[in-house]
Amino acid sequence: MCGIVGCVMARPAAPLLLDGLKKLEYRGYDSAGIAVSDGGAISVVKRKGRVKGLEDARALKGGTGVGHTRWATHGAPSECNAHPHCFGGICIVHNGIVENAATLKEECVRRGETFSSQTDSEVIAHLIAAEEGDLLTAVRAALQKISGSYAVAVLSERAPDTIVCARRASPLVVGCDGEGSYVASDIPAVAADGRAVYVLGDGEFAVLKKGEPPAFFDGALTPVKKAAIAYDACADTPQKQGFPHFMKKEIAEAPQSAEQSFPDLQSEVYSALCEVLCQTEHIHLVACGTAYHSTLCMYYVTHRFAKMTAQPFIASEYRYMDPIVPRGTLCITVSQSGETADTLASAALAKARGAKLLAVTNVKHSSLERMSDFVLPTHAGREIAVAATKSFCAQLAVLYALSHTIAQCRGHQAPPVSPLFSAMREALAAGEKVRAWVPYFVGARSVFFLGRGADRYAALEGSLKLKEVSYLPSEGYPAGELKHGTLALVDARTPVVALITDPAVADKTMNAVHEVSARGAPVFLITTIPACLGCAEVTACVLLPACEPAYSPMLTALPVQLLAYYVALACGNDPDKPRNLAKAVTVE
Ligand code: F6R
Repeated sequence: MCGIVGCVMARPAAPLLLDGLKKLEYRGYDSAGIAVSDGGAISVVKRKGRVKGLEDARALKGGTGVGHTRWATHGAPSECNAHPHCFGGICIVHNGIVENAATLKEECVRRGETFSSQTDSEVIAHLIAAEEGDLLTAVRAALQKISGSYAVAVLSERAPDTIVCARRASPLVVGCDGEGSYVASDIPAVAADGRAVYVLGDGEFAVLKKGEPPAFFDGALTPVKKAAIAYDACADTPQKQGFPHFMKKEIAEAPQSAEQSFPDLQSEVYSALCEVLCQTEHIHLVACGTAYHSTLCMYYVTHRFAKMTAQPFIASEYRYMDPIVPRGTLCITVSQSGETADTLASAALAKARGAKLLAVTNVKHSSLERMSDFVLPTHAGREIAVAATKSFCAQLAVLYALSHTIAQCRGHQAPPVSPLFSAMREALAAGEKVRAWVPYFVGARSVFFLGRGADRYAALEGSLKLKEVSYLPSEGYPAGELKHGTLALVDARTPVVALITDPAVADKTMNAVHEVSARGAPVFLITTIPACLGCAEVTACVLLPACEPAYSPMLTALPVQLLAYYVALACGNDPDKPRNLAKAVTVE
C-alpha cells in the first residue's frame, strides 16, 4: 500500500528519499515521486511505475524533502495521480483516504481553484494552502475538515527546511540523529544505526526542522514528550539469500517461523493471558484475508478440543455489523502487519464495547499492538513478498497454542502442537512435487481446492494464494457442498486439488474426487493418509507426514503455497509483487 518517507537535513535529501522509497517497495505500489525543497522553492519528480524510474531526481538540490509510493485507490496509476501533490506553495504526500474529498473539492473549485489529478489526496494541499497562520496551525485546521484516514507529510514554500507531519488511523514514525530528522510510514524505512525512532500517536502532529530535534504535539497542538522506542537497528531489509524470490524463501522459512512463534507457555505474559482465557466465555476472532483463514483454523481446533465456539469474523464485516459483545468477551485480532485498517477499526469497536483485546501480530510497535491489552507476537521475521506465507503458519502456531490452553482450562485434552514443527520440514520437502503439476494449471478455466473439516480452511487459503499470484480464478470449497450446485462448473479444464488429512472423513472427500473425476477434471491429491494414494482417478499426489488432522493446515499450507508460487512463475508473473495487491492494507 502507499508509503511515505521524508527528511530534513544539511546534505541533499534526494538520495536518502530514493533509498527510503526502495525500502517501502515491498508494500506494493504503482507510481512514485519525490519533492525536494531548496531554501523554499520545491522541485517535484514523479513517475508511473517503479522507484527506479525516479533516478533522475537523485541530483535535486536541497536537504528537505518528502517521497511517496502510491497504490491507486482514487484515480488510475499515472504520473499526474502520483504523489507529491502541490498547490499554492504547499506540497503533500498522503496515505489513507479522504472520504469527503468530493465535497471538499467542490468548495475549492467554487473558489476558482483547479485540480491536476483525480486523487482524493490533492485536496489536502488545497485545504492547507487556504489556511492562515504558521504551517502547523494551517495543517491542523485543514485536517479537521477531513473525514477518513491520513498519514501526511507537508512541505511549504513559506516554511523552508520544515516538514509538518500528522496521522489519523494510518501509521507514521519519526526518527532523528546527528544529521537530521526523518519521517516514514513504517519503522524499517526510518531505522538506522544510532537513530532515535518515535511512533506518532493517533491524532498527533510532528514538526521536523533543520538543526532542531523533532517536536511533537497532540491534537490541540499542546507539545507532548515522546520516548524513543526500542527497535532492532541492525535488522536490514531481508535479502533473498540465494532464493529466486522472497515468496519461495518465505515458504521455506515457514517451519522455523511457526516454531519460533509458539509462545513460551511459562512466560509471565502467557500466564496472565491464561487467566483471562480461562475466565472468558466469549471469544471473537477478527482478521482479514489470510489472517482470517488462520482464525477459521483456530475456530475449528477450539471447537474440536475445547468444546467452545470462538467465533471468527471478517474484520470489514465486523466493524459495520453492530456486533454483540457480551460482558467478558476476549477479542483476538490477527494481523501480519498490525496496520490493516479494517482490523484496527474492529479492534477499536470491540474495545469500546468492553472487550479485552489480544493482538497476534508480526510487527512490533504496530498500531494493533499498541491498542491491545495483550500481545502474542508471531516471530516470522519480516515478510517481504506481498502474499502471506510464513506468517500464516506462524499465526497458526500461536492460535493453536491458545486453543490448547483453552481446552486445558475447560478440563479437556488437546494433542500437543510441537510435533508439527518437524513434520512441517518434511512437508516442505514433499511439497516440491507440486512443481510437476503446473502444466495442468496454466491456462485452466478455474481451479477448485476441496476439503472437509480443517482441510476446508486450508483449501480456502490454497485458493486465495493461487488467485493472488497466478491470477487464475479459483475456489476453496467444502468437499460435501460440490454437488449442491458447483459441480456444474467442473470439466476437463478445471483442475481440482483435494486435501485429505482426516481418516474419519477421507472416504467422504474421496466421493468428491470421484464426482469431479467423472466430469473429466484432473485431480491432485495432498494427503497424510497413505491409503488414499491408491486411487486410480488421481492424476498426481503428495504424501505428507501423519499429523493430528485438526492441526493439518500447518502442513497442507506448504504444498498449496508452493503450487501457487510455481504456477505464478509459469504464468510469467512476479510472485513477490502480484498485481493490484498491497502488503499492508491501511485503507478501507
Ligand atoms: C494474502 C494476504 C492478505 C492479508 C490481509 C490481511 O496473501 O496477504 O490477504 O492476509 O490483507 O493482512 P494483515 O495480516 O497484515 O492484517
